[in-house]
Amino acid sequence: MNNSQTQTSQSLTPHASNSCGLRAAPEALLDSEQGRVDRAPLDGLAGKSILNPRQFDRRTIVALSQLAARLETRNVEMDKPLDGKIAITAFFEPSTRTRLSFESAVQRLDGKVLSVPDGQVTGIAKGESLADIGEMFNTYGDVVIMRHPVTESIDEIRRNLQRPLINAGNGSGHHPTQALIDWYALLKWRPELRLPNCPESARIHLGIIGTPGSMRAVKSFLRLSLMFLGAVKKITLISELADPVGLDLTEPIEQSPIPIDITNDAQDVLPHLDVIYVNSIAFLGDSYRNLDSRYKLDGSSQLKSDAVIMHPLARNEELSVELDDTPHNLYFAQAAGAVFLRQALLAAVLDRLNRISDI
Ligand code: CP
Repeated sequence: MNNSQTQTSQSLTPHASNSCGLRAAPEALLDSEQGRVDRAPLDGLAGKSILNPRQFDRRTIVALSQLAARLETRNVEMDKPLDGKIAITAFFEPSTRTRLSFESAVQRLDGKVLSVPDGQVTGIAKGESLADIGEMFNTYGDVVIMRHPVTESIDEIRRNLQRPLINAGNGSGHHPTQALIDWYALLKWRPELRLPNCPESARIHLGIIGTPGSMRAVKSFLRLSLMFLGAVKKITLISELADPVGLDLTEPIEQSPIPIDITNDAQDVLPHLDVIYVNSIAFLGDSYRNLDSRYKLDGSSQLKSDAVIMHPLARNEELSVELDDTPHNLYFAQAAGAVFLRQALLAAVLDRLNRISDI
């Protein structure tokens, strides 16, 4: 049995965990807080739409992660927290993880789901507008979770939609719940990162391979990472572009006290990184472009022995399966935590925190 398999089998949670790689244990996050969840910022999410990572702050991210850790370590289905609630998942663009983990989150908490896995099965195929679809959703469900290839789709559906909208990815815009999941995985992996006075030995040099300006998951992750002052000691953007940042993040980056540099030489910087976040898919209008092969990670990559790799997935050639069964693999644990973080977010948005016992 190798190192990663040992970690997986030591402490089983109520639900299945990742099959290989690191297991990011939720207990570590709870132990460090005596099991208490910081309720106040979560109560503030009731009835709110979740559209952009700038809505969050460090306290709310940590509180959501604590609640997710509670949900990951305990069976709460008997509480039926989402009983009587209907979530509409409206996906106008393909998804494996986001739609299904949202739907799993709702159903495991006893809510119900109306699923639109492909926009072409709606009136869109007949020329209907998103604004009109939003009007219909007011009656059909209590929360709408939408993915759409067009960045402005959020504004269009919200013209008539009065229910909370959760942005599950809008073109080259944002993917805020993915960024929350990413930080949930990081906080489980290294709980000290939640502390404003994070010990020096726990602080991370974060490398991000990709183009935040056109990669929504990378952009949202970087936006949340800028909130972790004192925990993130440096950020290196690794991109083929001289200016990969894009308009959305120019100001937050300029104002951040975290040192940020940009390089196009992945091999030079990789041995210095504690966390490597990689993504492959850039959105260019209505098409995709994959990352240049120079930025590929595989078994020969020169990594620190305790460095972890994160990836929102789906992956292509930039992340070799050679790394799956190694202690560098945090990406499967990252994906496995999605259900619990999304449960925590839905319970807060749908004002059902009081239905979860002992938080
Ligand atoms: N991480 C993510 O958004 O994956 P999907 O495209 O499969 O939803």
